[in-house]
Amino acid sequence: MTRFIAPSLLAADFTNLQKDIEIVNASEADWFHLDIMDGVFVPNISFGLPVVKAVKKLARKPLDVHLMIVEPEKYLSKFRDAGANNLTVHFETCKHLHRTIQEIKELGMNAGVTLNPHTPVELLEEIIIYVDLVLIMTVNPGFGGQKFIPTSYKKIQKAKTLIHESGSKALIEVDGGIDLSNAAGLFEAGADILVTGTTVFHSADPAATIHELKMAGMKK
Ligand code: DX5
Ligand code: ZN
Repeated sequence: MTRFIAPSLLAADFTNLQKDIEIVNASEADWFHLDIMDGVFVPNISFGLPVVKAVKKLARKPLDVHLMIVEPEKYLSKFRDAGANNLTVHFETCKHLHRTIQEIKELGMNAGVTLNPHTPVELLEEIIIYVDLVLIMTVNPGFGGQKFIPTSYKKIQKAKTLIHESGSKALIEVDGGIDLSNAAGLFEAGADILVTGTTVFHSADPAATIHELKMAGMKK
């Protein structure tokens, strides 16, 4: 079973990003999670390609880029060139999701599809065998620090079943409102990767918090 932690830089200190990147480099975290918001698909604007490029220069772990933008297909090669290793697009933003997933893979990245809280797992039936990652939003996308949506556990289990029954090798990533109170239950429900912004970067010791998240629910 995979137990990855992907700290979201959205909650990092933008006046000293290098410091937080080095903390993640030296920690047990597995990926850097980068949230790209366009102010159209989601009601917030975060950062774009120049920041991804800058992070890439310092990061010693893969970049997991979560696109919350309309028409993501226009920017796939730009994010690859900026250093993305995983590129995840929202189901709700893609008219031609199969084509977009194929293009991400042809560009040499792992391809992910993200579901908003209201989007059912069943809609992935025809695409599941083509994706490397399913990102299940456990809050509505757009902001850090929101409250976890409890019906997400069931959704993760459904995604797990779909992956198993289809023979897909996709990993399940969950994102939003994740902390030490729900991490164990999320792994147990079938999540492979936990994205955490606030819990990691607003804690007194981010590296220790990453360790605790990774070990959540495991016997000591
Ligand atoms: C929300 C983003 C998340 C966000 C999570 O749209 O996709 O990655 O940074 O932040 P927390 O962990 O604070 O809920
Ligand atoms: Zn995210």
